[in-house]
Amino acid sequence: MIAMTPRVTVYEVGPRDGLQNEAARLATPDKLALLGALADAGLTRIEATSFVSPAWIPQLADAAEVVAGLPARAGVRYAALVPNARGLARLLAVLDARGAGAPPVAAAVFLSASESHNRKNVNKSIDETLAAFGEVIGPALARGLEVRGYVSTAFGCPFEGKVDAGRVAEVALRLLEMGCGQVSLGDTIGVGTPTEVRAVLRRLLPAVPAERLALHGHDTRGTALANVLAALEEGLTTFDAAVGGLGGCPYAPGASGNLATEDLVFLLDGLGLETGVDFGRLVAAGALAQRLVGRRLPGRALQAALAARGEA
Ligand code: HMG
Ligand code: MG
Repeated sequence: MIAMTPRVTVYEVGPRDGLQNEAARLATPDKLALLGALADAGLTRIEATSFVSPAWIPQLADAAEVVAGLPARAGVRYAALVPNARGLARLLAVLDARGAGAPPVAAAVFLSASESHNRKNVNKSIDETLAAFGEVIGPALARGLEVRGYVSTAFGCPFEGKVDAGRVAEVALRLLEMGCGQVSLGDTIGVGTPTEVRAVLRRLLPAVPAERLALHGHDTRGTALANVLAALEEGLTTFDAAVGGLGGCPYAPGASGNLATEDLVFLLDGLGLETGVDFGRLVAAGALAQRLVGRRLPGRALQAALAARGEA
């Protein structure tokens, strides 16, 4: 039976994971308007952008301008992906230039549990990537930043197929030992099912407090919510999602949208779990995201809500 936590953190990744995968490049003020709408909906953890190479992800080349303009809201902490020391230096330069009262921003590092995807995504082996994180995690913590880690391809790799649960747990533990406050397990190409999610969690949870882990689902095959339910039953309390179901990794063939935030919040509300997110305001943010990217987004709860209002 489900012995669930009453309070769940919804970690919004749309402005980063979503916009990195859009053909259209949004203007910085439009990104800031979307970030404001998401914060106004009650989301308190929002991944805003990415200090990766602009040659690799041109959509987020304005990371510095985005961080400089982040809307301050009580209780909201943003995050930015930082792949290496150069990325951290770029983030710290913006943070140093901001005035007092600017909102907190965490650094997020990422690597894959499978060698081939890691190589395609960051041009390094897993060991080289972990070694390079030595120049990111410690220095970020020393500057008072929180650090999040991602383990991509945690339930399957576009190049290698199945990924061993023990290997995923090993990489996640390394990130936690290196100082990541929380590690999010990424179903990069949306192939995970509850069986695989439980297998990884059952290796980690005996050794790791549940709040130090998160699940990051892409809903490519429609299993993301089933995975959330399984992870809730195992005790997890943080779930990543993207407004409207935006999202995907350009370096993982077949990767499509993240679990839609509206679908996740609809489920959590229905289970009687507290998220602090206002569903109506979230739908307004989803409608804005849809207008900005210029296409109908896949989130089902978003589309149902818009149809009910005659806006679909
Ligand atoms: P590289 O080309 O191997 O880098 O890229 P390098 O170290 O050889 O440097 C080459 C040039 O890039 C140099 O410039 C560096 O200064 C510059 P030059 O001397 O030639 O003028 N450079 C940078 N510039 C700006 N910012 C930086 C930076 N680093 C180097 N941070 C690198 C290596 C990691 C940078 C590259 O492979 C990269 O940016 N990859 C990112 C790919 C990416 O963003 N993927 C999507 C995010 S991950 C994801 O979506 C999965 C997730 O959602 C979870 C899930 O779903 O599983 C998190
Ligand atoms: Mg992702």
